[in-house]
Amino acid sequence: MSYFSGKKYNIVTFGCQMNVHESEKIAGILQDLGLTHIEKPEMADVVVFNTCCIREGAEDRAFSNISALKKCKAQNKDMIIAVCGCMPQQKQGKYDFKKKLPFVDIVIGTHNVNMLGVYLKQVVDTKKRVFEVVETPISLEEGKTTIRDDQINAYVNIIYGCNKFCTYCIVPHVRGRERSRPYKDIEAEVKDLIGKGYRYITLLGQNVNSYGKDLNEGIDFATLLTKLSQIEGEFKLKFMTSHPIDFNKDVIKVMKNQPKVAKCLHLPVQSGNDEVLFKMNRHYNIKHYNKLIKATKRAVKNVALSTDIIVGFPGETEKAFEDTLKLIKKVRYDQIFAFMYSKRTGTPAVLLPNQIDEDVKNKRINKLLREQKFISKQMLNACVGKTYNCLVVVKNGVTMGLTDGGREIYLPNDSNNQVNHFVDIKIEDIRNHKLSGVIIDGRRN
Ligand code: 5AD
Ligand code: SF4
Repeated sequence: MSYFSGKKYNIVTFGCQMNVHESEKIAGILQDLGLTHIEKPEMADVVVFNTCCIREGAEDRAFSNISALKKCKAQNKDMIIAVCGCMPQQKQGKYDFKKKLPFVDIVIGTHNVNMLGVYLKQVVDTKKRVFEVVETPISLEEGKTTIRDDQINAYVNIIYGCNKFCTYCIVPHVRGRERSRPYKDIEAEVKDLIGKGYRYITLLGQNVNSYGKDLNEGIDFATLLTKLSQIEGEFKLKFMTSHPIDFNKDVIKVMKNQPKVAKCLHLPVQSGNDEVLFKMNRHYNIKHYNKLIKATKRAVKNVALSTDIIVGFPGETEKAFEDTLKLIKKVRYDQIFAFMYSKRTGTPAVLLPNQIDEDVKNKRINKLLREQKFISKQMLNACVGKTYNCLVVVKNGVTMGLTDGGREIYLPNDSNNQVNHFVDIKIEDIRNHKLSGVIIDGRRN
């Protein structure tokens, strides 16, 4: 029997869907060792912190969470604490875990997290701390145990890393260059998940539209979506994240023509001003972005749009910020994710002149979010009368339809026979910001 049999683990995850999914694989490694999950990190024998370094706030949160475990470790000397993910992978990170957190046992990066099981055994055997941050990417081997958090949606990696080097972004520095997974591996995983009953498959990558460029399989992202849509079964494909320079007409066509591709698109714009976009090294202008949005709206009926926006990028003038406000009013996203620019050591934007004061960033983000709140409300009201293909689910005992964009539509109680199926729902009413509707067409996917 292994040392870890019957022991308990907890994983604390920070950051994006990529990290959420990586934690599902880490859970697989831990369960393979014989550990079982426990709700509270303080009660666990092994605690893994899967960290994010996209902004300073994420790093500070992770650091204070890890620091808080010091007391528990003092009481339970056998507790093993591991830190992995993007924070340790940075060359010039803000926090030196080795020196600042002497009670942490394992510190590894993004490239060797698949070795966690080996390092855990090493700590038990040698009673020595392990610090292993490697430069060469060894992604988690696919096909190993994955303990998925969600019963409806399953994440599937299609491409790792990023080649874009936006000047504000640390991701290419901690996740390495683009590496696509071979098509047959992706297809096998997707088939397996559909067989297990997952209704949404979310294809993950920092830039999914780059899929296949580094392989010689002749399969680009649009082809990948088309091929995966041919798989038998009741499911829909989602994908994130897209880059406006690589997202193209071919993908829009697949979104339009394939009922199994979800009618939602997350297309980060970052700024509504061309000069800022240039300094961000985004490689597109607003005219190009607007063209993509227009083409998507025209082709994909009732498409749910969302975006990422950074306010207070170095040199962002009041006028440049106003351009971003103008853009969100024009596009009318269902949802925006807005961030204040955060300096990331080692990225070029840190050295740009005219860094923006925090209070100006604060004012701008608040103004942006206020405007979006207003737009989101209008978008919600505009749903009434429209028809969406939805998955019927039961949440807290209430039957509802979920649109591809994640909106909840309350359904009459007699809709229960359609639970776990995709149906067309007509939205009839809105009360207290809640939509209600009726099924107008049963199962068809
Ligand atoms: N500061 C603020 N936001 C950032 N993002 C990436 N890097 C930074 C940074 N240094 C945002 C971008 C990206 C999202 C995942 O995080 O908007 O699309
Ligand atoms: Fe970062 Fe830009 Fe790559 Fe997205 S595309 S991960 S923002 S460098």
